[in-house]
Amino acid sequence: MLMTAGLTSTDVKAGGIMLHNLQKRYGRATAVDSVSLSISPGEFISLLGPSGSGKTTTLMMIAGFEMPDSGQVLLDDKDITRLPPHRRQLGVIFQNYALFPHMTVAENIAYPLRM
Ligand SMILES: Nc1ncnc2c1ncn2[C@@H]1O[C@H](COP(=O)(O)OP(=O)(O)O)[C@@H](O)[C@H]1O
Ligand SMILES: [Mg+2]
Repeated sequence: MLMTAGLTSTDVKAGGIMLHNLQKRYGRATAVDSVSLSISPGEFISLLGPSGSGKTTTLMMIAGFEMPDSGQVLLDDKDITRLPPHRRQLGVIFQNYALFPHMTVAENIAYPLRM
């Protein structure tokens, strides 16, 4: 995406994400246990872990679709933990069901940002 736009990661000045002691429980089960993470603007990262280790829950808390029990999500040093998803200026591409099969990867990413 960056490369097709003629950009490299060093050209990206915004979009830094920090997770600070993020925690989420469902009943007695701890889905995410005190996750802290720093992602630089333009940095590409992957979360790798076994099924049930809390990857999706972490992403949902970054996007605002799940509310953490404690901890903070910061976008460019601004606390967005309590901000609703539509006010975060973040996009989520789901693993399945919600992709447009007639669009390229880049078009799938660009479409919700345009909307
Ligand atoms: N909506 C939910 N209600 C109850 N438990 C959930 C819910 N979502 C996830 N969990 C539980 O939280 C843990 C982490 O799940 P998840 O974030 O989906 O892991 P991953 O994406 O790494 O497979 C699992 O034990 C899962 O069963
Ligand atoms: Mg998952």
